[in-house]
Amino acid sequence: MKCNEAEFLWPDSFQQIPLHDAEFQLICQWLYQAAGIRLAANKKALVTSRLNGRLRELQLPSFRRYYELISNAQDTLAASERQRAIDLLTTNETFFFREDSHFSFIREAVLPRFRGQHLKCWSAASSTGEEAYTLAMVLASHHQGSWQILGTDINAEVIEKAKKGIYPIQRAENIPKHYLHQYCLKGTGDKSLQFKVCRELRSQVEFRHANLQQLPERLGSFDLVLLRNVMIYFDQPSKQRVVANIIRHMNAGGFLLIGHAESLTGVTDKVNLLQPSVYRLGAKL
Ligand SMILES: C[S@@+](CC[C@H](N)C(=O)[O-])C[C@H]1O[C@@H](n2cnc3c(N)ncnc32)[C@H](O)[C@@H]1O
Repeated sequence: MKCNEAEFLWPDSFQQIPLHDAEFQLICQWLYQAAGIRLAANKKALVTSRLNGRLRELQLPSFRRYYELISNAQDTLAASERQRAIDLLTTNETFFFREDSHFSFIREAVLPRFRGQHLKCWSAASSTGEEAYTLAMVLASHHQGSWQILGTDINAEVIEKAKKGIYPIQRAENIPKHYLHQYCLKGTGDKSLQFKVCRELRSQVEFRHANLQQLPERLGSFDLVLLRNVMIYFDQPSKQRVVANIIRHMNAGGFLLIGHAESLTGVTDKVNLLQPSVYRLGAKL
């Protein structure tokens, strides 16, 4: 049966360019090399839908041609397309006060140890910034001393959003009211469906593009690192590489928090487990 009625039809852009198995394999290998991310076989539909629009914009007839473009290391123009592909293929779900028990732990167990000191924190897969700003609200309210936060992510687009610190108003739902009123401003007029993290907090949170698989030497060293909900995308060798890279940027006695569904078993023996998802470098609590 062929549906055919005047004035009702799908535009051409709804016709997806097919992703063949061999092409899917090539893109998976490329993403693994570039970001350490392992895509499961059931992610073929996701890759098709996330990259299809890009193939159309570039007027490329097939995924093989797209792969040839992004994998051509000699072509400097391809570098921006490689970043574009990473932006499209990474999953950036995040929200304010996610896994809230970590922030209680920071308040009750981490901050007393750094009372009166400068505390350096790192949100190591910060996505659009909610995690770093959540931490900023907790530190601004509870840390007796100075502090700074670095947020990094491999996705360049989310880093730009994070720097702005502007979010749809529904995202405020998880922020306790006293923090929301103290550290965020509600938009007015045509911005009434948005809110913004206030300048005082934003000025203490810096966001930078960085790949956890190949970190720059000059990143600094940190007392508290949040590495949450990113290792789920890595296989064991990628996890080992990333955690070793992170530990090189931690101060002795520093805390490392990972996602509640993640574990460092078989990944490193350099940190001590304090409680599920909470580790410390070279010291017990
Ligand atoms: C699901 S989000 C987690 C955000 C936040 N940490 C949280 O728990 O809500 C995962 C983030 O990891 C980033 N990511 C994936 N691979 C990465 C890599 N190799 N280096 C840096 N960031 C990476 C993605 O771009 C994405 O923004």
